[in-house]
Amino acid sequence: MAQKIGILTTGGDSPGINAALRAIGKAALSVEGTRLIGFQDGFAGMLNSMVVEMENPMFSGILTTGGTILGTNRDRPDHILINSKYENRTSDIIAAYRSHGLDGLVCLGGGDAQDSAGLLMREGLNVITVPVTIDNDIPHTDTSVGFNTALEVAAEAIDRLHSTAISHHRIIIVEIMGRESGWLTLGAGIAGGADVILIPEIPYHLEKISAAILARAAIGKRFSLIAVSEGAISVENVEFFENARRTNLRIRGSRDGADISARLDAIEKRAAGDTLHLANRLESFTGLQTRVTILGYLLRGGAPSAVDRVLATQLGTACAKFIQQGQYGVMVAPRGGGVETVPLDQVAGMVKTIPADHAWIHGARLVGTSLGD
Ligand code: F6P
Repeated sequence: MAQKIGILTTGGDSPGINAALRAIGKAALSVEGTRLIGFQDGFAGMLNSMVVEMENPMFSGILTTGGTILGTNRDRPDHILINSKYENRTSDIIAAYRSHGLDGLVCLGGGDAQDSAGLLMREGLNVITVPVTIDNDIPHTDTSVGFNTALEVAAEAIDRLHSTAISHHRIIIVEIMGRESGWLTLGAGIAGGADVILIPEIPYHLEKISAAILARAAIGKRFSLIAVSEGAISVENVEFFENARRTNLRIRGSRDGADISARLDAIEKRAAGDTLHLANRLESFTGLQTRVTILGYLLRGGAPSAVDRVLATQLGTACAKFIQQGQYGVMVAPRGGGVETVPLDQVAGMVKTIPADHAWIHGARLVGTSLGD
């Protein structure tokens, strides 16, 4: 069945997003009469009619490139930045969908993409998503496009930092992205042989980290590598915010205190990942020189790995097949080596964190890595 399909990339970019666009585009356009309309810069492009007719030549040469040829940003239909203020423009996005005469809309991205698609689905639009994020934090997926590439980059960074840490007898802390989930940090930490791995799922004790480092120094290992997730948080901070929330609710009650609780949540998120502060405190606890490297956007840039190119092609072509079958309201999920559809309402607004009994956590502990707990 020939359809007119809109497509956009939204949220943080990720290696392999172009490969996924290529796979969807080539497979969808192979059906006679199908049209693909790309919106530039995510939902802002949909709102402002920044539209490009996507035809086969656009998909040549992009399998291996980083970034997204469509451009992206963090706007969501109900949270669009206009003149330095966020506005809810969901009804305008729906109107744009209708005025373009779309039969469906494909959203590529991480958590933001799933949340926005969930919202539009509830408003009655035909939406389908592909999980593309370095964070690997989308529920009901084995992995996401971009995770493997970022894992390789982070592991290589840890390898390189090892030799300089050894030469200078230093602690080197490497901060790795991942928001509220520690997949990238744990995976890269294991692959790079980090001595300490700190993830948001396991709040850390500074004394435990220091003890692990000093125990290494006592047997002649005068350097240590720490992989820390940007969302890692200390036990003392967790306790402080829990107390503050309890006190707030006791004094104001759950209705009046809701606003302050939300502000406390936001402050707690900012308090997480304070890697420079962690470095200063570790240096004074251990007496060892401590340096920090923040990998940041290096993890999101550049060419996708072969594994991500294959995954993007697998998910993208499956997405085109589901579009052809008129299956909407779903995410195209890599599961058990194959591809399945997962209803968007089981994904939107949720985060896949690392379960406490996950094999990676057991493995890290068994090889003597400190998780700071
Ligand atoms: O969502 C992917 C991600 O890379 C997170 O790991 C990180 O917290 C965030 O993007 C940073 O995003 P921004 O581009 O908005 O600074």
